[in-house]
Amino acid sequence: MLLQNLRTQTAPFHSSLEQNPVSLRLMSETVTLTDYKVYLRGLYGYLKNYESLMLSRLEAINKPVNKYRKMLLIESDLLMLDYEPDQIPVIEQEQLMTIYPSLESTLGGLYVLEGSMLGGVVIRKHLQKCLGIEVEGKLQYLGAYGDVPALRWKDFLVFFCAAAGHLEENEVINGAIGTFQSIDKWLRTTIND
Ligand code: HEM
Repeated sequence: MLLQNLRTQTAPFHSSLEQNPVSLRLMSETVTLTDYKVYLRGLYGYLKNYESLMLSRLEAINKPVNKYRKMLLIESDLLMLDYEPDQIPVIEQEQLMTIYPSLESTLGGLYVLEGSMLGGVVIRKHLQKCLGIEVEGKLQYLGAYGDVPALRWKDFLVFFCAAAGHLEENEVINGAIGTFQSIDKWLRTTIND
């Protein structure tokens, strides 16, 4: 039931994120390397502090989360794209605390960030088709789950349902919705950095 509710209730927010100007540029037929850089830099700015400040909350309830961390992959892509990750603006801790006031909302956030790997396959194939050699060796983050992410996703959903166990469902869903909305907003604010 939780998964069903999550899917239905977050679907409109996923659609909005796909309509974000950064996403639209990324998925256009005339996408450039700069468009990819803008997307990756924006996601990094969100993920960096989510992973370092929020995710460890799940470890506190005995749920190992290291395999869900993507920072090393995204940093490696950014370096290949001539960015110094340390120079990229990241979302403030105070802001994250309002999006993730609880363990439940943090788990909802992880659902969205893991789920983004499904769409990641579509985005990676699009970039390979349109940019070819320009993106060679620069797609480690989007390629983290290979061409068939369904198995990793299934594995994550087992973890997720076990962790959600007796937690407040609405709060998990609110965390997922908040994540979609905040990434949408964050990408819009970082587009011109
Ligand atoms: C250009 C931007 C994006 C495109 C084109 C896109 C596309 C897609 C596609 C095609 C799927 C379905 C994949 C499948 O079922 O095999 C998907 C799933 C998903 N995406 Fe995205 N996506 C984008 C951005 C994002 C972002 C930035 C996030 C969050 C950080 C995200 C979160 C999710 C989630 C959570 C799912 C799984 C939904 C579910 O099955 O419950 N997506 N995306």
